[in-house]
Amino acid sequence: MFKTRMTEMFGVQHPIMLAGMNWITEPKLISAVCNAGGVGILATARCTPEETRENIKQIRDMTDKPFGINQILIGPGAKENIEIAIEEKVPFINYSLGKPWFVDDVHAYGGKVVGTIAIARHATRAVQLGCDALIITGHEAAAHGAAATLMVLIPLVASMVDVPLIAAGGICNGQGMAAALALGADGISMGSRFMVTKESMVHDNFKQLCLEATEQDTLYDNVFDGMDGRVLKTKEAEAMTKRGFPIVESIKGALLVKKLFKLSFLKFAGLSIEMVRAEEGHPLMVLARQAVGNMKHMKALNEGDVEGGILFAGQCCGGIKDVPTVKELIDRTIAEAEETLGRLDALKK
Ligand SMILES: Cc1cc2nc3c(=O)[nH]c(=O)nc-3n(C[C@H](O)[C@H](O)[C@H](O)COP(=O)(O)O)c2cc1C
Repeated sequence: MFKTRMTEMFGVQHPIMLAGMNWITEPKLISAVCNAGGVGILATARCTPEETRENIKQIRDMTDKPFGINQILIGPGAKENIEIAIEEKVPFINYSLGKPWFVDDVHAYGGKVVGTIAIARHATRAVQLGCDALIITGHEAAAHGAAATLMVLIPLVASMVDVPLIAAGGICNGQGMAAALALGADGISMGSRFMVTKESMVHDNFKQLCLEATEQDTLYDNVFDGMDGRVLKTKEAEAMTKRGFPIVESIKGALLVKKLFKLSFLKFAGLSIEMVRAEEGHPLMVLARQAVGNMKHMKALNEGDVEGGILFAGQCCGGIKDVPTVKELIDRTIAEAEETLGRLDALKK
């Protein structure tokens, strides 16, 4: 058992978080993690406000343990989803990209705000803005890590801020957890590893692809959704890296976003400008390219199309060798971390 600033702040048994993963973090997976003593996070990027509320209700039907939501703050629907989470008094609100305008509202009901960063200097700013804890994403991670790995980031960030730190990227077992704690983290967040569990909705074809992948079988590029990100190597992912900027697909994507979110041209243009102005300065077409990425992700997750689909996944797929239940995975990770720290302790003279 571990008692860290993360278990204390989140009121959970184990310092293990289910990373927010758009599409994948459904109530069934989230509640399984919460009921096994970890922290489940619902990624709401895919959700309309009504769906966000419904998902929160479903989670509460399946667990009485604390959980959180994850929302990317730029793009349509972000503000509305955060407002629903605040109305519902969701215990933890985890955001990435953009500024957390809702800190006081969350603190008012006793909730916590958890910022996600991938660049060390963003840590100080996030804490100044009121974040209670930070998720640090390394280059190894699925989706949007930046240039530095956790080996470098965790001690650096730990020396800069004094809030609970949660390490995300490349961790799929207790050895990784022990390493993250040794580097200065208070807990871990796992995405790819939880993706390959019995409760995960990911199509069996892609679970199998993760099981077969080595640590070399991911691609890191900005062509998948407009931001630097890591996906599993598939035929389509490789083709996308060769194709370069997908202008026709991006225009199709832009129109799809406009239609899906029922945006007027004025609102669509406003959102695009908002994205450019965001702290990270994303180019105008990111939203459209995200729509293209989303469509290819749906092909992977729902249809199991290993040729035409793409799927965010991390380098740690190389170390994923089975499909356990969430509880088996969490119990095993804790036991491995304890064993690892015991082994290190025995090295002392
Ligand atoms: C399929 C998939 C979807 C993801 N969607 C989101 C998301 O919506 N928001 C977010 O902040 N991170 C997202 N991530 C990144 C994870 O939150 C986390 O940072 C990453 O999985 C950690 O790396 P790991 O997979 O090596 O554990 C996603 C990751 C995956 C695999």
